[in-house]
Amino acid sequence: MRLTQRRRQRQRSTQGAAAGRRVALLLLAAALSASAEPWSLGSFRLCSSVRLPWVDQNASGAAYVPESNTLWVVRNEPPGLFEYDTSGTRLLRWLDISWLKDTEDLAYIGGGRLAVVEEGPGGGIHVFDIASGRHVESFNVANPRTQEYGNEGLSYDPGSGIYYVAQEKWPRRILAVRPNGDGSSQWWNVVDGDAAYRGVGDIAAVAYVPQLGQVFVLSQESNRVLRSTMEGRVLQELWVTGSQPEPNEMAIYKVDDCGA
Ligand SMILES: *[C@@H]1O[C@H](CO)[C@@H](O)[C@H](O)[C@H]1NC(C)=O
Repeated sequence: MRLTQRRRQRQRSTQGAAAGRRVALLLLAAALSASAEPWSLGSFRLCSSVRLPWVDQNASGAAYVPESNTLWVVRNEPPGLFEYDTSGTRLLRWLDISWLKDTEDLAYIGGGRLAVVEEGPGGGIHVFDIASGRHVESFNVANPRTQEYGNEGLSYDPGSGIYYVAQEKWPRRILAVRPNGDGSSQWWNVVDGDAAYRGVGDIAAVAYVPQLGQVFVLSQESNRVLRSTMEGRVLQELWVTGSQPEPNEMAIYKVDDCGA
């Protein structure tokens, strides 16, 4: 999730694999929006859908980089990072990250850096400098999980330096991760999704919105985006559709109307 003052649109992308595990949530919005309630899920409109060139399968997450006004997409198998224009139709660049494993989501963390999360046990968060393409930092995330139902979503709070990670199932939860600077990290539960998000079957992505101090949470199995407080209170829900089984499509939602 990334915010820009120049746009009053939100984009959301869903890429669902046959296995039903690869989905991304990306929100872009203006701090000063013409919309009466700029973050209200009720004002989201599905405007278009694009097939991402060069990524035929296994697209699993997206992030917006305001400095370049471009989108980055991560592929989980084989792992790769792809930069597109904001229409999602033109590939600008790609980075080989095939030394990583099952890279399920990415987040722009500011300062020209992207962070990527790996799903399975022992998988960590890996930070890349966009300009040079170089890997700059890695740290483990030690929450108990399985290869099949692990860390599926990633977001970042630039104010606190905390990463928010969505664990898909067993348990479904939102956890906070703070790197220690030595390759390890501390983690703790923020939202117990088994209790708080009883209406949905899984958590596939999370987007923390600093302006609200809230999260938007995507459930692929239940075709829904939830807007939730950090205490897990669901404020709003939006039913969405995703494309399956070809997980290379990005659905673009905007606020109020598609012409903006
Ligand atoms: C997509 O991922 C699956 C494993 O999850 C793999 O078998 C398949 O080859 C990948 N697709 C491509 C085009 O690499």
